[in-house]
Amino acid sequence: MSISGRLTGARARAPLHAGLFETWLRRGRTASSYSASSEPSKVRALIYGNHGDPAKVIQLKNLELTAVEGSDVHVRMLAAPVNPSDINMIQGNYGLLPKLPAVGGNEGIGQVVAVGSSVSRLKPGDWVIPASAGLGTWRTEAVFSEEALIGIPKDIPLQSAATLGVNPCTAYRMLVDFEQLQPGDSVIQNASNSGVGQAVIQIASALRLKTINVVRDRPDIQKLTDRLKNLGADYVLTEEELRIPETKTIFKDVPLPRLALNCVGGKSSTELLRHLALQGPTKPLPERTLSIVTFPVHVTPSLAGSPE
Ligand SMILES: NC(=O)c1ccc[n+]([C@@H]2O[C@H](COP(=O)([O-])OP(=O)(O)OC[C@H]3O[C@@H](n4cnc5c(N)ncnc54)[C@H](OP(=O)(O)O)[C@@H]3O)[C@@H](O)[C@H]2O)c1
Repeated sequence: MSISGRLTGARARAPLHAGLFETWLRRGRTASSYSASSEPSKVRALIYGNHGDPAKVIQLKNLELTAVEGSDVHVRMLAAPVNPSDINMIQGNYGLLPKLPAVGGNEGIGQVVAVGSSVSRLKPGDWVIPASAGLGTWRTEAVFSEEALIGIPKDIPLQSAATLGVNPCTAYRMLVDFEQLQPGDSVIQNASNSGVGQAVIQIASALRLKTINVVRDRPDIQKLTDRLKNLGADYVLTEEELRIPETKTIFKDVPLPRLALNCVGGKSSTELLRHLALQGPTKPLPERTLSIVTFPVHVTPSLAGSPE
């Protein structure tokens, strides 16, 4: 993944008026207007010129669109989420950082309004998502280059389309890249109600893998348990339940997990480790000692290399 220059890849200029964020919020505008037209309109973007607390450094500004030429694609954004990595990027403590000033947001769904003369893969009306991180999706419109975009089918729910590129892809890669799991094998994960965790549950279920899902306790734990089970979770346990000996009875019905997915660290990751099968690695990685994947981004094949 790479971060490109001027306003993170869009062919947009940013001479700009500060202080519009409150006005924008007052009017109840969101990034998802749900339709694209070729009417000229004011382009608004959430931009940061310095790293720091997002509440302090992000400003709503007006942008001008450049003319659409050659391989350019004019896109109107329909929806764009806020992911933890977006926040980390603004704070300046993420592995990939854009040149500043930058438009926030790394994923989202947009609709093509117009294309340049040499664009071959996309046409007006198509839905597109960013091909990689750093595009700056928190804006109403932009002119991007064709290669910065991937066309996707329009028959999927808008919110799913807007969140297709980060969490489900991460979940899939973690399930298939580190272990060669077979139907019936099990996977254990913490923060299972996170966006990534829910994607892990659904993809694992489709792959006929059993999931043991650890969450933090809460007053309405049964509601959360039911929701995750509806997604395909086999077991949902609180961090505390994972520590008690009775939990081991689960492993009369399912094999010990050969893969653990950790995005919490500390005691929580230690508890995942305690339940891993011995000799987890099935791939010939000599440095590898345990099949625990700690994320974000720098997914490490051994606990020794983990940032946690
Ligand atoms: N390519 C990648 O490497 C990649 C891609 C996507 C996400 N990620 C990473 O994956 C993680 C999850 O991302 P997401 O977007 O799915 O998150 P999310 O939907 O915002 O959910 C955050 C999760 O973290 C849990 N949590 C927060 N603080 C905790 C703590 N102190 N102890 C235990 N659990 C805690 C929350 O549990 P509660 O509900 O109990 O608060 C929730 O389950 C993040 O670290 C993110 O950076 C990595």
